[in-house]
Amino acid sequence: MKITLSILKADVGSIGGHTKPSDRMLDSVRSDVAAAIGRGLLIDAYVGHTGDDICIIASHTRGENDTEVHQFAWTSFLNATAIATEYGLYGAGQDLLVDAPSGNIRGAGPAVAEIEFEHDPVKTNPIRPAESFMVLAADKCGPGAYNLPMFLGFADPMYCGGLMLPRVGEGFTFNIIDMDNTDGDSLISLNAPEDYYKITVLLRDNERFAIESIVSRYSGETAAAISATRMHNIAGTYTGKDDPVALVRNQGIFPAPEELISPYTKAHYIGGDARGSHVMPLMPVPINTAVTGMYCLPLVSCVGFSLNRDGKFSDSSADFFDNPAWDYVRQIAQEKGIAMRSQGWSGAAMLPYGELEYSGFRTSIGNLVDRFAIRNGKESSAIPEKAGTADD
Ligand code: 13P
Ligand code: 13P
Ligand code: MG
Ligand code: MG
Ligand code: MG
Ligand code: MG
Repeated sequence: MKITLSILKADVGSIGGHTKPSDRMLDSVRSDVAAAIGRGLLIDAYVGHTGDDICIIASHTRGENDTEVHQFAWTSFLNATAIATEYGLYGAGQDLLVDAPSGNIRGAGPAVAEIEFEHDPVKTNPIRPAESFMVLAADKCGPGAYNLPMFLGFADPMYCGGLMLPRVGEGFTFNIIDMDNTDGDSLISLNAPEDYYKITVLLRDNERFAIESIVSRYSGETAAAISATRMHNIAGTYTGKDDPVALVRNQGIFPAPEELISPYTKAHYIGGDARGSHVMPLMPVPINTAVTGMYCLPLVSCVGFSLNRDGKFSDSSADFFDNPAWDYVRQIAQEKGIAMRSQGWSGAAMLPYGELEYSGFRTSIGNLVDRFAIRNGKESSAIPEKAGTADD
């Protein structure tokens, strides 16, 4: 049978600032999920949060971009928004950027990552005798937060020794999206290892290019799907950070979990943090972690599940970053964060103007640019008007 795994995540309000959703909001989404399982729309589901983003991880048989599954998630997020509004929480409904999407909710604000695959572990899919997968959810992060760690996990034997084995070693196709092309989804497919350098040319730009999916060249099966959208391209202005999710199948013909998560030991610098305007390290954290540390460090969680023959999740999940080994990396991330912030607003510590122009920084900068005058008396050319006055 074909099974679809759907990850649907939204920030619809948080307590005491942009920290975490309230218990009632999470209870509401969990009870909506239980009802959807009860009426047979979903086979199974898990609900958790990373920072202020609520993530639904669901299995079903309806395929990717299914209207009913997406509408169910949208309604659950709306119900949680109503609770956030009732209690006066910060940013109620923040990621629900359009009024009422009619079909699937891609491009409407919530982060979506889905994979449909043949799931009959014993009979029809002998190369996949057991289905295991991981879900990464980020908060306070720009859209290309996974570019470097996903590339290293799927293309570099320094991180993934499995690439030296026959099947994994046939390599992976990286489907990369140009998030700045607003005419439609603009994609390129590049193969690792032969296109290794070309892939890096694109993935170095985390704000414009992002991996959308990764496909096994051995079997043609999708190994990973990543939500890759720029919120400000949907809203036209800054409405919060993109906070992408990723769904990654592991083991066997795909990299093993440790091969996929070892690149997170870098705590690499990405765009995000406070007001979505800084360059700060990505800190791996347990699921259900609030953003309450110093600064507003970009966070990523990673939970793993197995799937039984009927598409039900294992009775419990594995929380990959909830392990003392990652305390050491969290320490490194904190040190890198302090080092970067010691340089305050200067140069590389903050995102370049092209990113900030969607936020209130545009107004602050534009107002001053307007006042520039050329020494010989000619007027300076001001930055053209564009939406963007939000200041958070
Ligand atoms: P186990 O013996 O614990 O299954 O580990 C095997 C392995 O290959 C780890 O990648
Ligand atoms: P969120 O996208 O998590 O709301 O974060 C946005 C932000 O601006 C943090 O200061
Ligand atoms: Mg928020
Ligand atoms: Mg968020
Ligand atoms: Mg966000
Ligand atoms: Mg084992």
